[in-house]
Amino acid sequence: MGKRDLDTAFFGQPKGLSTLFFTEMWERFSYYGMRAILLFYMYYAVTKGGLGMDQTTAASIMSIYGSLVYLSTLVGGWLSDRVWGSRKTVFYGGVLIMLGHIVLALPAGVSALYASIALIVVGTGLLKPNVSSMVGGLYSVEDRRRDAGFSIFVFGINIGSFLAPLLVPWAAQGFGFNVFGTEWNFHAGFSLAAVGMFLGLVQYALGGRKYLSTDSLTPNDPIDKGDLLNIIKWVVIGIVAIAIALAAMAGVGQLNVNNVITLLTILAIALPIYYFVMMLRSPKVTKIERSRVKAYIPLFFAAAIFWGIEESGSVVLALFAEQRTVLHVGSWHFAAANFQSLNPLFIMILTPVFVWLWEHWKKQPSAPGKFAAGLVFAGLSYMWMALPGMLFGTSGRVSPLWLVGSWFLVEIAEMLISPIGLSITTKLAPNAFRSQMMSMWFMADATGQAVNAQIVKFYSSGTEIQYFLAVGVVSVIFGIIMFALVKKINVLMEGIH
Ligand code: PHE
Ligand code: ALA
Repeated sequence: MGKRDLDTAFFGQPKGLSTLFFTEMWERFSYYGMRAILLFYMYYAVTKGGLGMDQTTAASIMSIYGSLVYLSTLVGGWLSDRVWGSRKTVFYGGVLIMLGHIVLALPAGVSALYASIALIVVGTGLLKPNVSSMVGGLYSVEDRRRDAGFSIFVFGINIGSFLAPLLVPWAAQGFGFNVFGTEWNFHAGFSLAAVGMFLGLVQYALGGRKYLSTDSLTPNDPIDKGDLLNIIKWVVIGIVAIAIALAAMAGVGQLNVNNVITLLTILAIALPIYYFVMMLRSPKVTKIERSRVKAYIPLFFAAAIFWGIEESGSVVLALFAEQRTVLHVGSWHFAAANFQSLNPLFIMILTPVFVWLWEHWKKQPSAPGKFAAGLVFAGLSYMWMALPGMLFGTSGRVSPLWLVGSWFLVEIAEMLISPIGLSITTKLAPNAFRSQMMSMWFMADATGQAVNAQIVKFYSSGTEIQYFLAVGVVSVIFGIIMFALVKKINVLMEGIH
């Protein structure tokens, strides 16, 4: 590469990375800021500024929402590859996300909630996979700055995810001024999320024009007339199938939120199964590649369990923060929603530690070994949360350090699974299914949250001990099984580490 075109304007990285960094930082700011208060908005009584929904339903909605947001990346990846190219797809996604937050900023009740969910699910599906793949596109194959570029990008994710749960709840409480007359005005919080996405979009539009390549403006594999009929056929089949399912549910008087959630859970479990079967049977996949796909199955399973626990931080641990935790240290008071900052905070603290560890640990475990350890830590983060109830009973409030400890443990697990999983996913991908395999990584999170949407219904302070123990023990057991399978999985990986 000539000296002339080696762009090092952003921490030694190409200037385009700065554009993508801030786009994703603001997108995550809006997403995690919204989620930090959404649960409370749904189940708080109307007199407290909420929607007055039932708490179990609210928790279940949080999880299925989180699942759909990543399931929809399948559609976003496809639209970018075949229709718009990544640059426009990201922009349209950002616009939908911003509209989704604006809808929630209006005091328009439950219908606004569902409209917002739909907009943000589709918008994130368009934005998230494509902004990440554009990071990869900034580097030529031989450019060694690629991994560092991704690490910086992930740091952007976490800065946004860290700041939002501090600022958005603060906005929802009038920035400390008693301007609303009530303790909470959630719409003010959602407005700040909308502003965040707006800033991200402006920055993206201006920076993108200057620093992102023009390749990203066209699809890699544009649809032609021949494909079009087939596509229309499948879209129509899909819409008709959904309509029939909903009509059938309505026909037997069962069309309600909980049943729709159950249907979506089934979908989020069936989709990865379909993808695995399809890849294993495809003639485009060689024998060695097939073995690697098989190796990916237990890794996917482990990742789904891990993400299930990690993502429940914004649901189950958020409930614990609100109902069972002392919300001040001395005279310093905070909101339950602020706890959501701990996850990204620990990621930022632990990332350099683990980067150092992987560089210096000579006999470090292979990727499946790290996954196994990750499951054990994730399980421990839950078992740890059974302790306060066992020690002090489940009716009072306990020290915030319990939650801090739990997030610390689950973030060790995240260090062992998230970056490792991302890289092993790309390496194990069959050539013909590169982008689909990337979607599988998002799907692991989606599947974990879809299962959560069912099990969180069993959580309440009355059942917390059993809940944390049961889920925690399951994760630890799968971790141990995974340890036993490490050798076998490594053989199946056919030379990939
Ligand atoms: N916290 C992660 C993020 O926002 C969650 C995630 C992991 C999403 C893996 C997709 C895939 O990026
Ligand atoms: N835990 C969130 C993610 O993995 C912030 O980036």
